[in-house]
Amino acid sequence: MESRQVMVGEYASVRAVLVNDDQFGTGGATIDCGQPRRLLPLQADGEEHDVYRAPLARLLSAGAVERWEPAIRRITTELVEALLVSKRDPASLVDVNAGFSSPLPMQVFGWMMGIGDIDVARLLILHDQIMVPTPSTPPAVKRSAGAEVGRYFDRLVSECRQHPRGDVLGALVIEQAGRRSLTDEEISDICFLLLLASVDTVSQALSSMFFLFANYPRQRDLAMVGGKANPQFIEELLRWEPPAMILPRTSQERCTINGEEIEKNDLVLCDLRSANRDSSRFEAPERFDPMRSPRPHLAFGAGSHRCVGVHLARMELAIAVEEIDRAIEVIAGPDGEAPELGVLTPRRTAPNLLELRPRASLIDGSQAG
Ligand code: HEM
Repeated sequence: MESRQVMVGEYASVRAVLVNDDQFGTGGATIDCGQPRRLLPLQADGEEHDVYRAPLARLLSAGAVERWEPAIRRITTELVEALLVSKRDPASLVDVNAGFSSPLPMQVFGWMMGIGDIDVARLLILHDQIMVPTPSTPPAVKRSAGAEVGRYFDRLVSECRQHPRGDVLGALVIEQAGRRSLTDEEISDICFLLLLASVDTVSQALSSMFFLFANYPRQRDLAMVGGKANPQFIEELLRWEPPAMILPRTSQERCTINGEEIEKNDLVLCDLRSANRDSSRFEAPERFDPMRSPRPHLAFGAGSHRCVGVHLARMELAIAVEEIDRAIEVIAGPDGEAPELGVLTPRRTAPNLLELRPRASLIDGSQAG
């Protein structure tokens, strides 16, 4: 029998599918972009998955990521300053997606992996061909991008093996998978997934954040609390517009979800956006409300594949909120009616032209430190 696609959108059902990884595997489904091998650990299931995930969980733990704060803040500050410098005419508009939302997570990834600026720029192009192909992009472009990224990481890992270094890639090379070391191919497959998992997601969240700041300035007041980014604002941003919207799973055997018959090998598509806006779970779910009493959302997934980069993701977003607050007084969209809250925010690859006015303290140079 031909396998079908089944969409699941209620919070409880989506969560039930994601936590039941014996019944709903990631192995067969998901991304096909011409990558040489599986993306690890995402495309492994069961015990094999645990073996690949454990080293990443150690490298991306809250404590490890905390030590990266100064480097990530430096990257962020430089990008915010470049946004303001790029405005030759004070009244001109700046594309915050091209200047900030896209390059920030890509540069953080480059820093983690010890990748130079030229390669970072190339990887971002390839990444976009894989993750956000336009409707007119031929499938061959996506596959050739995937193959090039695969070759790139194979080479990078082999160089790192020959000349050990102190960055995250260097740490991955000496990590243990169970009782053995990871092979070069396995490390390369992990790097590939890290690129796809860490760039588009953070970038999309930043794009949604600028959308809110520009159209709903009162929301911006809620983004900071006591001189720091408000964690509830960031969680609400992710609940309201989850950057990864659909998580695919393949059913391993016959079952029912919400009364619907699912056959073995059916593709089950978990719609995180619907789940995060399920009114039986979140009151007035369309409303962006950082003051709502916090309830766990599904933007980072659930179950054994739940995002392992969650600490880094939250830190990147918090630092972005803080550095934007420090440097930019006014963020304004083009004149006219603000778009409705509840519609899909602009994709991060679309231009988002905004007026940015720097804080007076930055203009007259009186900013301390
Ligand atoms: C706002 C930013 C982010 C969001 C919303 C997000 C979301 C997600 C989601 C929904 C999953 C589950 C995928 C599935 O079950 O099919 C996932 C997995 C994953 N994420 Fe993230 N992610 C973010 C940032 C990051 C970052 C910064 C990294 C790494 C540096 C990262 C690395 C990963 C990895 C490696 C997996 C696979 C985990 C596994 O299979 O065990 N993510 N992420």
